Amino acid sequence: MAITTQQLIQWKQQGKPIVALTGWDYAIAQLLDTAGVDLILVGDSLAVVLGYETTLPITLDEMVHHAKAVRRGVSRALVVVDLPFLSYQESISQAMHSAGRILKETGAQAVKLEGGYPAMIETVSRLVQAGIPVMGHVGLTPQSIHQLGLRQQGKTQVDQQRILNEAIALEQAGVFSLVLEHIPANLASEITHKLRIPTIGIGAGSECDGQVLVTSDILGLSEKQPPFAKVYTNLREQITKAVQSYSLDVREGKFL
Ligand code: KIV
Ligand code: NA
Repeated sequence: MAITTQQLIQWKQQGKPIVALTGWDYAIAQLLDTAGVDLILVGDSLAVVLGYETTLPITLDEMVHHAKAVRRGVSRALVVVDLPFLSYQESISQAMHSAGRILKETGAQAVKLEGGYPAMIETVSRLVQAGIPVMGHVGLTPQSIHQLGLRQQGKTQVDQQRILNEAIALEQAGVFSLVLEHIPANLASEITHKLRIPTIGIGAGSECDGQVLVTSDILGLSEKQPPFAKVYTNLREQITKAVQSYSLDVREGKFL
């Protein structure tokens, strides 16, 4: 049975942790889904998989293309797709159009967007009223890299209060879940206790209702990893070895 946004809210009440990872194509999504991952995020970190330096250049068309492939590989997990940079910040109508394309064209069940400032709260509220499930994302928001860098957020009291207020406003606007990225563990814990909806942490300590990481990071496929990534295997090494063995077979005439 496919997991729903409502179920994830119930899991929080039951104290059942949510396992989330990013997915970018059919094969990876199918493996994650079969392995029992609860939520597959087609994150705009897909930009890095495609060779971009930051998440900024990726387009809505690219996100839709990959989200369709992911969706074809998934039968159980909830599929959430990031709205890419400047596909939703301009106006409510732009956000509605972009989120609508994701739901209608890809079959994903929800979208994620970054920020909890007043205009974004208004946008989230309108999307939710239109029937589009929205996941929020506060703390380090990589689409603001040229303002924030990739540093941990919420270092000062003022900043912590702002992030907490954003989280509460997003819950009131109707998000079904909230990503907390690269903030102090005690702040993430406080937000998690104050909200009814589940928090999904990345670099936000162990007390969130779920965790998300970038799949290419945990597999050791990424060239660079953030400080909070956990590496569970080294696929770069394994792939290099396999390709070298194959190359040797071909070059030494042992391949048949
Ligand atoms: O794009 C992404 O992969 C993300 C998660 C890491 C939260 O937004
Ligand atoms: Na993202």
